[in-house]
Amino acid sequence: MQVLTSESELNSLLDEHRFPPHTTGFVPTMGALHEGHLSLVRKSLSENTITVCSIFVNPTQFNDPEDFNKYPRQRESDIEKLRSTGCQVLFCPEHKTIYPQEDHNKYNLGPVADKLEGSSRPGHFNGVASVVKRLLEIVNPTRAYFGLKDYQQFLVVHSLVKQYSIPVEIIGCETVRDKGGLAMSSRNERLSSYEKELATHLYKALKSAKDAVNQGRDSGLETLGQEYFNGLAEPELEYFKVADARTLAPIGDKKIGNDDSAIALIAARVGGVRLIDNMPLN
Ligand code: PAF
Repeated sequence: MQVLTSESELNSLLDEHRFPPHTTGFVPTMGALHEGHLSLVRKSLSENTITVCSIFVNPTQFNDPEDFNKYPRQRESDIEKLRSTGCQVLFCPEHKTIYPQEDHNKYNLGPVADKLEGSSRPGHFNGVASVVKRLLEIVNPTRAYFGLKDYQQFLVVHSLVKQYSIPVEIIGCETVRDKGGLAMSSRNERLSSYEKELATHLYKALKSAKDAVNQGRDSGLETLGQEYFNGLAEPELEYFKVADARTLAPIGDKKIGNDDSAIALIAARVGGVRLIDNMPLN
């Protein structure tokens, strides 16, 4: 695996892979790689002739500087994990490569970006849009892979590439969970094993709504999910919402249609660490 920091080196390496039958798969990450990331890399490897993974802890998407400082950084073990997948290229750009000037761009990402994470973390999706747009410009991949654990981010990236006519296929990949159901996340690194146990309540709450749908219930699912947390000191629930899976328009406790897809989305804190997860309901 080649580990590159320079844009020009990456471009010369990718030049010979630009034309059919060659395709470039791209997996952008902020490092602290786990099975979720590695599953994206493996999918990309199976669908493309070359796969580039990037690691860049993007300051502009952290609305809380403390969260940015505490974000786990473990370059050596990340390199080892990536090597084990057979990934051909790791791109670790410097700050000035991504942001040659200070970033003042304001993206209009549509209604999909302004609720849930968008309202809880002001500026977050603007920062995600900045870094993803810049990385896609540099790597110019055929396909880019994003985990569906960050479901709203996946929709926002779709909206970004559509709006800027960026020629790339955006592929969403299933959330990878541990055996208790906890969704893999780099933030789990900051949880003790007891806190990881507590964090499985996010999954269990989502699953309780999904199970209710499977048993024929089609309304009141938001309240059901919220009530799951009654009497629990932790996780501290920030939101449990039921929304249209394409637009994230709120459904709340209303009847979920048979034709439209609905999704439950959750954010909660365990031991001061903010976690998110989601589950399609139908
Ligand atoms: O999902 C992430 O890890 C980040 O938001 C991304 C897409 C790499 C942009 O920094």
